[in-house]
Amino acid sequence: MNYFAYKKGDMHAEGVALKTIAEQVGTPFYCYSAGALRAAMGEFNRGMKGMNASVCYAMKANSSLAVIKTFAEMGAGADIVSEGEMRRALAAGVPANRIVYSGVGKKPAELMAALQAGVGQINVESVAELETLNAVAGQLGVKAAITIRVNPDVDAKTHAKITTGKKGNKFGIDIDLAREAFAIAGKLPHLNVVGVAMHIGSQLTTLSPYQRSIRKVAKFIAQLRSDGHRIDRFDVGGGLGIVYKKEKPPSITDFLAIVKKETKGLDCELTFEPGRRLVGEAGVLVGEVILVKPGASKTFVIVDAAMNDLIRPTLYDAWHDIVPVRQPRPGAATIRCDIVGPICESGDYLAQNRDLPRLSAGDLVMVRSAGAYGAVMGSTYNTRPLAPEVMVDGTRFAVTRPRPSIDDMLAAERFPSWMERPKP
Ligand code: LLP
Repeated sequence: MNYFAYKKGDMHAEGVALKTIAEQVGTPFYCYSAGALRAAMGEFNRGMKGMNASVCYAMKANSSLAVIKTFAEMGAGADIVSEGEMRRALAAGVPANRIVYSGVGKKPAELMAALQAGVGQINVESVAELETLNAVAGQLGVKAAITIRVNPDVDAKTHAKITTGKKGNKFGIDIDLAREAFAIAGKLPHLNVVGVAMHIGSQLTTLSPYQRSIRKVAKFIAQLRSDGHRIDRFDVGGGLGIVYKKEKPPSITDFLAIVKKETKGLDCELTFEPGRRLVGEAGVLVGEVILVKPGASKTFVIVDAAMNDLIRPTLYDAWHDIVPVRQPRPGAATIRCDIVGPICESGDYLAQNRDLPRLSAGDLVMVRSAGAYGAVMGSTYNTRPLAPEVMVDGTRFAVTRPRPSIDDMLAAERFPSWMERPKP
């Protein structure tokens, strides 16, 4: 089902016209379809039937409380990378024992908070972290359940900035050196080594890198067991890609089928950490055209959504489809344009060299596949308030994060005591 579609000439999110939301909330705003979120999670749940497996949603992709809760209601745990994300997961009702804590640089205070909250699993990425965690767990008088994340040195064939499983990436412990790390962990009294983790990259559009990595890790697990370690869990990570342009990412069902095949007989409980795949296509960014500026070589359509709202195009050369919210007439003439924001940087664009129907001031545009790594990577650059977030469910919608006022933004700051206060 298409959760964002034209109805009677106007783009809708499920049963709600985006222009209705724009009238009430203003622009720019993010809009998520609860139906699309549930459909993606439902496909995971169906595919995992009969497998000893579960999803820990990688909430870095979209950490809106309402989004996390939607998945938690369907049985998902959470994959977190900071104390802040842990607090969000707990606030959204994720049970602590369904939380997996990933990340290459966890601070002792964050590890302490995680152990105090009772998170289910900590994925350790270095020997130094093993030692810190052991000390923190000792202080609390507990045993921390850990996996060690290995770096299988497999090319995920994705953008360089989101490749994580190659030698030379900062993530995990090199699979050739990891045996030693397991030996160290096995001797630390406050750690309980329960398994192995991997995550090879994001926006993967083929299954072969997963297949190669799983095979490598499965061999490694056999070796660990022969060394006397009890390996019960295998965390396969996330990374499954979505459609931005014309990619043909594997279906969730096919992905799970391959994992099932490759882990047959391994006798491990599996964890999946999908982020983008659960939320990416379920969210859009809506902006309004401020003005149109014809140039010598091309036309600039200046909209009120900018790189601070969606940084992916300029940071990763990402292609996001952009369509007018009011449906163009069939066969309407198009013009070649760049869709850009008002920020004072040439890198401030949402799209370049697109052929779009003629737009004018006041028209709304929708940026597709913006549900993952959109709002969460937003900033207040140029003192632009963070774009609000809206969830649609059928014919209802709710603002799940309101737009901060500029007064709110200024009130968060302080002058140093030695400065004279500006006169009001
Ligand atoms: N698990 C771990 C350990 C991760 O580092 C990540 C993502 C995930 C799971 C979820 O990956 P996903 O299923 O979403 O691909 N900002 C970038 C993506 C960064 C991904 C970071 N790690 C982007 O906008 O493309």
